[in-house]
Parts: sequence; C-alpha cells; structure tokens
Amino acid sequence: MNKEFKRYTVTAALPYSNGPVHIGHLAGVYVPADIYVRYLRLKKRDVLYICGSDEHGVPITLRAKKEGKTPQQVVDFYHEMNKKAFADFGISFDIYSRTSNKIHHETASDFFKKLYDKNDFLELETEQLYDEEANQFLADRYVTGTCPHCGYERAYGDQCEKCGTSLSATELINPVSSFSGSVPVVKATKHWYLPLDKYSDFIEDWIVKGHQDDWRQNVVQQVHSWIKMGLRPRAVTRDLDWGVPVPVENAEGKVLYVWFDAPIGYISATKELTDDWEKYWKDDETKLVHFIGKDNIVFHAIIFPIMLKAEGSYILPDNVPANSFLNLEDDKISTSRNWAVWLHEYLEDFEGKQDVLRYVLTVNAPESKDNNFTWKDFQTRNNKELVADFGNFVNRALVLTNKYFEGVVQVPGNYTDYDKEVLAEITKIRDKVADSLEQYRIREAQYFAMDLARLGNKYFAETEPWTIAKTDLERVKTILYIACQIVANLAVLMEPFLPFSAKKLRNSLSITEELTWDMIGRSDILKSGTKLQKTDLLFEQITDEMIEKQIERLEKIKKENELAEAKLTPLKTVATFDDFTKLDIRIGTVLKAEKVAKTKKLLKLTVDTGIDKRTIVAGIAEHYTPEQITGKKVTLLANLEPRKIKGILSEGMLLMAENSVGELSILTPNKDFENGSTVG
Ligand code: 2FM
Ligand code: ZN
Repeated sequence: MNKEFKRYTVTAALPYSNGPVHIGHLAGVYVPADIYVRYLRLKKRDVLYICGSDEHGVPITLRAKKEGKTPQQVVDFYHEMNKKAFADFGISFDIYSRTSNKIHHETASDFFKKLYDKNDFLELETEQLYDEEANQFLADRYVTGTCPHCGYERAYGDQCEKCGTSLSATELINPVSSFSGSVPVVKATKHWYLPLDKYSDFIEDWIVKGHQDDWRQNVVQQVHSWIKMGLRPRAVTRDLDWGVPVPVENAEGKVLYVWFDAPIGYISATKELTDDWEKYWKDDETKLVHFIGKDNIVFHAIIFPIMLKAEGSYILPDNVPANSFLNLEDDKISTSRNWAVWLHEYLEDFEGKQDVLRYVLTVNAPESKDNNFTWKDFQTRNNKELVADFGNFVNRALVLTNKYFEGVVQVPGNYTDYDKEVLAEITKIRDKVADSLEQYRIREAQYFAMDLARLGNKYFAETEPWTIAKTDLERVKTILYIACQIVANLAVLMEPFLPFSAKKLRNSLSITEELTWDMIGRSDILKSGTKLQKTDLLFEQITDEMIEKQIERLEKIKKENELAEAKLTPLKTVATFDDFTKLDIRIGTVLKAEKVAKTKKLLKLTVDTGIDKRTIVAGIAEHYTPEQITGKKVTLLANLEPRKIKGILSEGMLLMAENSVGELSILTPNKDFENGSTVG
C-alpha cells in the first residue's frame, strides 16, 4: 500500500464520441483525475495522464443512424468538440487519442490475437437475436425489452438500467430491435468468449480480500456481488461492421466487442505518445490508476484486469477510484433529454470562469454517493467561498502592499510567535492535502486547501495591518511579507484544483520560476524586492441575473420534456350521432368576469350568447385572470341543465381544451363569427 512508485500511469475513462461532454463527465472523472495528476507533476513524479475518445460501440452507430451520417462522421465531429472542451477546462491530458486510429486497431488486434493464439478464448456457436429487416444481429443496446428480473420495460440487451443486472439479449422478454423496431428472431452465430469464470478466485483474492480497506467501498462491493453471482464466460466479439475487425480466419462481419477494445485504448494512446510506452504498462514500479464512473466498475475491476492477466505481460491497476453520479437540480443528467450543463455552453455564459465550475464540481464531487449540482449552490460557493474567502484575502494582501510599499515585497523584521505559528501551519495544510490526494479523497483535499486562504484571512484579522500602519510601518512590512508568502503558497497549493487562478496568482506575484509541491511551506517563495503586478480580481461575484438565466433555461427544457413524455388522455367509449346532436354548442362573448369569493379556481362570467346574456361559472381562475378573459370570444355548451355552483346559478358550460400537462385554453373561432353561431 505504501510502496514508492517510480512512475504513474493515470487513465480517465474514454468518453464515447457520440455527444458533447457535460458537467457530469467533469465531476465524475476528468476533474478529479486532473487534480491528482497535476499534484503528481508538482511533486516532480513521472506521470502520464491518458485519455481519448471511445469511438466504437452501439451509441455511436445509433447516433449516426439518427443523424443520417456515417459513424466516422459522427466520431470525427464529437472527438474534436470534446477534445477542445476538455482543453478549455484545463484538463491536462498528456494525450487525447481516439480508438478509430490505426495504432489502436493494430494494438487491439494484436492483443486479441495473442489471447487467441494462447487458446484463452472459448469459441462458441450460440443462438442470438437477429433483425430480419435490418439484416443485423442484435446485442447490447441494439435491443430493448422487459427485464426478466425486475420487469422494467426498457431494459437493454446488455444491462437493465433499473435494477443494474447484467443481461444477455436473449434473456429479454418481448425484445424489440432498436434498428427497425421489429421483433427479432433467433439465429445461430459464432463468437469468442473470455472465460471470466476461470479468473474468479484471482479477482476475489486480489480485490475483495486484498483491497477491501484501501479501495473505495462501492468498487469492492460491486466486484464482490459479481463474484457471488458467479462470473460467466463473456463474448468479446460482435456481428457488426463498425469496430476493430476480428483478426482471425472465418470471422468476416465480426468486430471486437467495444468493451474489449476500449480499455486497450489506454495502451494504444500511450504507444502513440511515447516509444517508451512499455515501462508505463509493464513495469512493477509503475502505479496504474483508472479514474472512472460507477457504471464502468465491472469493466475496469473485472474484465480488463482479466484481459491483462491473461495476456501476461501487463501490470494491474493499483486503484480504480470510481465516482457515483452527479444529478442536476435533483434530476438525473441525461443527454437524450437535454438535461445537462454542456461544457461548451457553460463557457458562452461564464467566460473565463472555468475554475469556478471545477471548484463547485469538486466541492460536490459524488465520491461516495450520488450528489447534486444546483445553480443556487454554484452561486453561493462562488460568492461566499471563492470571492469572500480566497479572492478577498489575496486582494487585501496585494492592495495593501501597493498602498504602503508601492507594490514591492519588503524585507521582513523579526517574526512574532504568532507569525511562526502561521507559517508552520502552511506545511501542515500541505501534508493534509497531499495525504487526501494520495488516497483519492479529492473533495476533502480541496477543502483542506481552502484552509490556507482561511488562514490568510485569519492572519489579517488578528494582525490588522491597516491599524498598525498608523503607528508601526516596520511591523506592517513583516505582516505583508508573510501575507504575500501565503499568497505565493496558494499559487502552488491551488494549482491542481484551480489552475487558471493559480496562473493568475503567479503573474500577479511576478513569479517566473517553476514552483513545486515541496516548496509549499517556505516563507521565501517570493523574494524581498519583488514588484507585484497590477491585476484584475481573482474571482468575481456571480449575480442573481446570471443564475436566473440558467434556471430559466432548465425550466424551459423541463417543460419541453414533460410535454414530450406526457401521456395523452385515453379515448372515451363511442358516442352515437344522436348523443352528439343533443348538444347545443354556440359561440359567445364574455362581457364581464369576476372571481368567485373564497374559491381558487372559479370565475363568474357574464356571457352574451347571441340569444341572451347569462351567467356561467367556470373553473378557469388558475389559467385566466378576469381581465384576460373579458371581451374574449368563447365556445359554450348552451343547453346544459342549469346548476348551482357556490350559490350561483350557472347556465351553461365553457368548453376548454386541456393539454397533457393540465394547461387550459379557451376555444375561440379563428374568424370573427357573431354570437349565437352554432358549432357542430
Ligand atoms: O462509459 C463510457 O462512456 C465508455 N465509453 C467508457 C470507456 S472506458 C475505457 F475502457 F475505455
Ligand atoms: Zn431489471
């Protein structure tokens, strides 16, 4: 556990290039991994941060079909888009590769071939679902149906998202093809299977027994429950034309299963990056860490390690920190429902505020359970923590140095005991942050890092240089010297978390030399005589208007989704023509409208029906104000038997349309028809 490693290979799950990346991606995988890697780099460790686009698999082919494009066109577009979005947020990959690259096809092919030649696979002919309209075998997400375990009607051919059970397509009840919507038939086909069952003891000893204390509980528990259910041979090939072709004879029309080739993508990306790739994958002194989301646990903690073990020359991951999911305003983030904050859209509204999002996503990192992002919380965290705690301290240190000493860091006098205590505290904070990071407790690490800004504020509150300046400017030199050293320490300590702000700080402090983690705690990072630069505020207030705009956008999307998802009222039983002709429906005009006292829903209307002027009580007060309805042409049922409502005799009924979410609308003829016109 405490072994010293010579180098680090850190991977972040390869996102599918079938759509843009959103805050859930950042919070779950890419920001925590980036913080960890930036910390290692500051520690001067040899580290590679590997990622890229996962360009095979069903989500991509389905998206291509929906958009009328080729899969290659789809992945080309989203690969570039996502690569840019990550770079814009300071995600400092050493390489962002892609699995449609030649080098990846070769690497994945060779990997398969090696296991094939060693006879590690089972070659089995089994019955699979087949879409006769599309001439296509169906597996994974190409087919949906009812889950045999929980009855959920939209389970996929590889997994039920409701109960989490892993499925094979033939287990689904009432399967339907996602390609053509037709009911599939069963047909025999041959595939290669990785015998996971043979490795059950290995996985159990290594993870369930070996890492029960130092790996996250969600990972250990999920692996344990898979082992208890019994590992089964798993097909690693598919009948498809998009993917890495199966590199053996008699395998036409077959490609590698996307979850077989994607993790090999980490290896091919490393190969693409450096000729020295093998030492990052095959040397025991390399620490391999996979940052992933919880839906990827089985692939990174069971299947990929079994592939590596079977191949024989690779190291295994030292840890697989898996995060849970981030919700948005209490609802599950969903690409298809557009319920997300897309990174490229965020930057349109919050230009230059990448660190604010990084900060808030880390504060709310879903490390041990699902967590929630709300715009209100985003605003509060920015205004109360980044602006008031961090920014305010930095600003005071710089402004006071400008005010009293023309922006020049002074030579300090003797330190008081309190000064010494404060300086000693910096090292303690550094070690707490490092300790949390080494254990992948990223959210806790950021909290400890903010302690340094809080320490700075406390130092000012205790020493009050603005008061002392009136009597003892010499002492103020020391106080501001120490305050500026705290700012310089923040420039290093915060770099993994808030890289854009750390860079701004370095510029403000005129620091040009390289800063390293081990410098944190020093009281001479900034040399006496350094001239500070005039700079903008580190963080700005986020206003109510900025937040309301975001909330309004989400409310609009919610409404659109509700409308799209809402079910229409089922059709009533048949009415005869005679039934219908009994109804006398007319056009009228509302002459007067008033609320019925002590009711929420009722309006008392006076309506000119062309025949008479009469009173109608209508339950529309939550949809129309008296002013809105007065003067309007309406449609009414004129021969409805009069009845008393709240003591008022209502002589007829206003006809209203009601949509699937319960909104009401009056029915007005679209020509100017006179009152009394009949409807039928
Ligand atoms: O779940 C996903 O988004 C996958 N594309 C992750 C792949 S991770 C790795 F194995 F490449
Ligand atoms: Zn289920």
